[in-house]
Amino acid sequence: MEKIQSGSDPRKKQVTCYLLFCVSTAVIGSLQFGYNTGVINAPEEKLKTFFQNVSLERYGEPMKEGTVLILWSFAVAIFSVGGMIGSFCVGALVNMFGRRKSMLLANILALVGAVLMGFSKLCHSFEMVICGRLVIGLFCGLCTGLTPMYLGELSPTALRGAFGTLHQLGVVVGILVAQIFGLESLLGSDELWPILLGLTALPAVMQSILLPFCPESPRYLLINLNLEKEARQALVRLRGSEDVNADIDEMKAEGVKMASEKKVTILELFRSPAYRQPIIIAIVLQLSQQFSGINAVFYYSTGIFKTAGVSQPIYATIGAGAVNTVFTVVSLFLVDKAGRRTLHLIGLSGMAVSAVIMTVSLALIKVESSLSYLAIAGVFAFVASFEMGPGPIPWFIVAELFAQGPRPAAIAVAGCSNWTANFLVGLGFPKLEELCGPYVFIIFVVLLIVFVIFTYFRVPETKGRTFDDIACGFAATVSGQSQPEGVVTIPVSPTTEKV
Ligand code: GLC
Repeated sequence: MEKIQSGSDPRKKQVTCYLLFCVSTAVIGSLQFGYNTGVINAPEEKLKTFFQNVSLERYGEPMKEGTVLILWSFAVAIFSVGGMIGSFCVGALVNMFGRRKSMLLANILALVGAVLMGFSKLCHSFEMVICGRLVIGLFCGLCTGLTPMYLGELSPTALRGAFGTLHQLGVVVGILVAQIFGLESLLGSDELWPILLGLTALPAVMQSILLPFCPESPRYLLINLNLEKEARQALVRLRGSEDVNADIDEMKAEGVKMASEKKVTILELFRSPAYRQPIIIAIVLQLSQQFSGINAVFYYSTGIFKTAGVSQPIYATIGAGAVNTVFTVVSLFLVDKAGRRTLHLIGLSGMAVSAVIMTVSLALIKVESSLSYLAIAGVFAFVASFEMGPGPIPWFIVAELFAQGPRPAAIAVAGCSNWTANFLVGLGFPKLEELCGPYVFIIFVVLLIVFVIFTYFRVPETKGRTFDDIACGFAATVSGQSQPEGVVTIPVSPTTEKV
């Protein structure tokens, strides 16, 4: 097996082609989430016309404008509702079927959703678009839990941040692909929009073909199923080395600890003092991602660019998608060096500053038209800062904050919080913009400052630490016992990070 060795400790940082293959296969799920998030923006007018035409055919009269708008908002919002339900089911699903089989099963939903949306025009049914969006939302909700969990459990400890960030890289590439395919000259036309929406079937088929070649998560095999031989075999292939004893020993230690608390329910996460602190951190980090206002930009960027006087706003939107992708790659290389906490703080602060720049320039644009450049730069800086930390980190840090036992329940709760907040921003932003005009982003500035303060005082550094070590850190603060050497004290200050 070809090996790429990076860093001074080959055991910890070993990356094999097989590991990269498995990770890439899993990341197809992230790509799906991004694609389906971004795909609905471009064909808005085409879909509204389709709704009108169906009504005309069925009832001999076009739909009222108000009804079209309600149906359209419904088709957009139901995706997030599906996401909330899907993400909430992740815990139960992985406990029943394991990580790999759950990803395989989820693809059935992608296929059903794709068929419903792809054939809606042929069947003259807008109901199929709406049902398809719900089913695809369910699927994406599952992806946002399953992919980070699988990636976290497969990665070598020293590279867990970079591998976790690959989930977000998949998401942003998916968004960018959707933005480009959605151009009228490509698939965003009157005839081709069903293909644009149905295209999600393709990655689903691809992932279903590739997944059987990937192993079940070794942690799941050993800790949950007690299958040491199988776990060892999987690790030997993933690490490209016969010597996987250190990994096995670490998992065994974690397994012994969780033996007495095998199934942690969602309720217990909040009841048990050992889990309360990490679950609050996990939820607030998800909220910091969504209430940073990122999707206000992604869902409504075309309108923002129009206000800023851009003549071809769709291309500025694609520009934002490109900045988004580039900075996710930057974060990928920094996250295991600078650490999660530092990057999250830098990202949130950068977003707050950019939002102030956006607000000031949009407010004064009527007086000084050249400020439109500053407004665009503000949007790009906002997006870039997001991808430095608040984009990728909340998705993968939940898997790090919890050991094997409570991890599925925690990922379900965190994912559901993320989707709910996403839904609220999507629903509330247009109304807030109507009320506050160019000052709407001040709301996000205030929220961002609150999240910076929370992260500074409450979020521990997880870089380079084993799952067990992180869990011990939380448990120790609860019981008041002395910390194992180098473990973060919580609440943390920057000087207490383990290096
Ligand atoms: C994150 C968010 C998602 C957002 C995307 C933008 O993955 O969860 O809601 O659209 O980043 O890059």
